[in-house]
Amino acid sequence: MKVLIINAHPDPHSATSATNRVVKHLLDKLPVGSAEVVNLAETDIQPLNKTALDGFAAAMNQQQPTAEQSASLARLSATVAQLKSAPRLVLAYPFYNFSIPARLKDWLDNIVIPGETFKYDENGNPHGLMGTHKALILQGSGSVYSSGPMASMEHSVPYLKTLLGGFLGFADVDVVRAEGTQQQIIGLEAAVQKACADIDAKIDGFMKA
Ligand SMILES: Cc1cc2nc3c(=O)[nH]c(=O)nc-3n(C[C@H](O)[C@H](O)[C@H](O)COP(=O)(O)O)c2cc1C
Repeated sequence: MKVLIINAHPDPHSATSATNRVVKHLLDKLPVGSAEVVNLAETDIQPLNKTALDGFAAAMNQQQPTAEQSASLARLSATVAQLKSAPRLVLAYPFYNFSIPARLKDWLDNIVIPGETFKYDENGNPHGLMGTHKALILQGSGSVYSSGPMASMEHSVPYLKTLLGGFLGFADVDVVRAEGTQQQIIGLEAAVQKACADIDAKIDGFMKA
């Protein structure tokens, strides 16, 4: 079963990054050849800029898109096709300023496409189209947000669960956190070890049909 791993770390080859270390641990657990890793820092993933929006409008109004708009739409389609080709999705990111890195937001904006990953019914209600897919969120964070006084400052997992599970209809959205990497009481090593143990505990369920 194909697993698409989207790594949003700005330096996906940093050996000291908690995020990268947990990704590496996951890769070692997956069947050989099953994983496709996309390091967003090494792609030119496009933000939803004017060209993309004008391309959407042209397509909706059945107008001929410009060459630039066509290229933009083609790139969006390729990103969506890559997502749909993988029954399992992993989003790995360092927690930055209480949320996801901007490049990951750009990637997510590329895959929320009507008729592809969700649709509206005749009453205007949205329905997710990713129902056979599962997602795993891998987050590295300096502080602890899974519980305790800072939990309400964590804006990425609620957002990702809403978007992937609630809106796009992923059958399951689970979370593994390497948290407290910058806290004296936990630290990088303990945070990474705990996250790797969580991966070990969850991997079979994640890969199960
Ligand atoms: C620009 C920047 C913003 C950060 N913002 C937060 C934050 O809001 N909360 C937090 O707990 N840690 C924050 N951190 C720390 C990282 O989440 C932490 O280093 C974690 O281990 C993930 O990064 P890593 O994969 O490089 O180790 C921030 C780090 C950077 C570089």
